[in-house]
Amino acid sequence: MPRNPLPLTTLVILILIGSMWVSPETARGQMLFSRGDCNTDGVRNIADVVHGLGILFSGAGPANCADACDVNDDGGNDISDPIYMLGNLFSGGPNPPLPDDCGPDPTADTLDCLSGPASCPPPVEDCSNGVDDDGDLDVDCADSDCQGDPACAPPASFVVDIYPIISDQCVFCHGPPSNFANLDLSLEAGNDPYARLINVPSIECSSYVLVEPDVAGSSWLWRKISGTHVEAAVGAGCDPADAGTQMPLGPFCCLEQETIDLFEQWINEGANP
Ligand code: HEC
Repeated sequence: MPRNPLPLTTLVILILIGSMWVSPETARGQMLFSRGDCNTDGVRNIADVVHGLGILFSGAGPANCADACDVNDDGGNDISDPIYMLGNLFSGGPNPPLPDDCGPDPTADTLDCLSGPASCPPPVEDCSNGVDDDGDLDVDCADSDCQGDPACAPPASFVVDIYPIISDQCVFCHGPPSNFANLDLSLEAGNDPYARLINVPSIECSSYVLVEPDVAGSSWLWRKISGTHVEAAVGAGCDPADAGTQMPLGPFCCLEQETIDLFEQWINEGANP
């Protein structure tokens, strides 16, 4: 009577070897993985089959990445997974479903990765997509990784961000005694520079207000510091001869682009006090 060919014996041996290879790690959320790379070593080969069988039949679990061991992506870890992998490796069977190279799981299931494969880049938190990308349970700006990310910066404020610039670069002309263009931006005698700007019509082009919250392009002050005031005047039907010069006037012109952009940001964020 012919002896049973190799596979079964091989599998049993492989199961035994596989059972020695597992190192569980701290629980974390969804990681990037490659489906079929059950032992998370970065390649798909017979060692993954061995590892999967070890977990199923020799108490070698838990899997580092149960998602990676769910070779057929049916949402569970069972014998059909190593069989699928064997079919793919040795009998021309189909490739496992995606991800095939360090991706998130595209299908919802209860499986997860305890640790991502060392060969996959660590997942990075996207600070503005409402998703816990790196699986540390902190979403977007609540994640310490997002500290310093522009998306998480508090909105610009007049008092904190804008007025120091005005005080330094504008008030020596736009304050007593000159108050050029009748624009007093000083804090003298109870003057309120914020109130002096918000929704107050420009004297140079009255179709514009000095600051229109949310719309830098409709704000004469921003037009004047960015040097786009003449075209704005023409577009609004004002006499360009009345539009004057870019601010700060003459030899004091102009603000750094970064500073001009900060004014733009402040206005577009709602011109917060
Ligand atoms: C050296 C003096 C001087 C400085 C500094 C200066 N301005 Fe002016 N500003 C003027 C004069 C003069 C006018 C009117 C003539 C003109 O527009 O060229 C004017 C006009 C304006 C107007 C138009 C007001 C309106 O109602 O239409 C705005 C807005 C303005 N300045 C903003 C600023 C800001 C913001 C700064 C600082 C970043 C600044 N200016 C710095 C002298 C100055």
